[in-house]
Amino acid sequence: MKGVILAGGLGSRLRPLTKITNKHLLPIYDRPMIHYPIETLVRAGIEDIMIVTGGTSAGDFLRLLGNGREFGLQDIYYTYQEGEGGIADALKLAEHFADGERIVVILGDNIFEDDIAPYVRAFVQQPSGARLLLKAVPDPQRFGVPELAGERIVRIEEKPAHPKSDYAVTGIYMYDERVFDFCRNLKPSRRGELEITDVNNAYIEAGDLYYDVLRGWWTDAGTFESLHHANRLIAERNGWSEAAVSAAG
Ligand code: G1P
Repeated sequence: MKGVILAGGLGSRLRPLTKITNKHLLPIYDRPMIHYPIETLVRAGIEDIMIVTGGTSAGDFLRLLGNGREFGLQDIYYTYQEGEGGIADALKLAEHFADGERIVVILGDNIFEDDIAPYVRAFVQQPSGARLLLKAVPDPQRFGVPELAGERIVRIEEKPAHPKSDYAVTGIYMYDERVFDFCRNLKPSRRGELEITDVNNAYIEAGDLYYDVLRGWWTDAGTFESLHHANRLIAERNGWSEAAVSAAG
């Protein structure tokens, strides 16, 4: 299985933090954000990894990560997104890398507590299609939100004002080789981007979309609130506590 990390974009919701660097190079507690999605993939046994990035600090990824030896990788593949066309536009750049195989795509600002290996195994076992990971959240209107009929997802809405469920579609997407055909047929959304939600809806229309619900915590880190929350979650995972900070002071 190949993995694709999408780490482009302008990070405009995090300005001025992202004025001179890429969002995915910002710190989450003691490491740069991009380390976490790499670890999520590596922990699931995915060792063929491509990073899609863009903007003026793309070279910094190479300086930071090199060939990925720190993660136990042989090498890392990189590609460069010109402009800012959305998640599905960035994904198109991975077609050559995927080379007709299935892929696991992860958004570079998504941090998962769970080991995703069991979900990847379930994807390998399904005959075809796509597989998503959902998580119940208090603020679904910030995300792609599935509408469920019984156990089935009938549609996903991107950032709906009136969400039809409490679930967010998290930023891990597992796709078969058809994903690039679906990407090619997309039209830009109202915000002028090619939306990953439209790719997922194409799989729903093809009757070939599956999902799991995550057990552990999950967060994105693309806004000040979620970036702060992500720092907190990782700090706590690493044993940080108010009491320890007071004791140290
Ligand atoms: C993107 C997707 C959204 C998904 C979210 C997960 O949103 O468009 O469907 O729920 O990532 O982090 P963005 O963070 O780009 O606004």
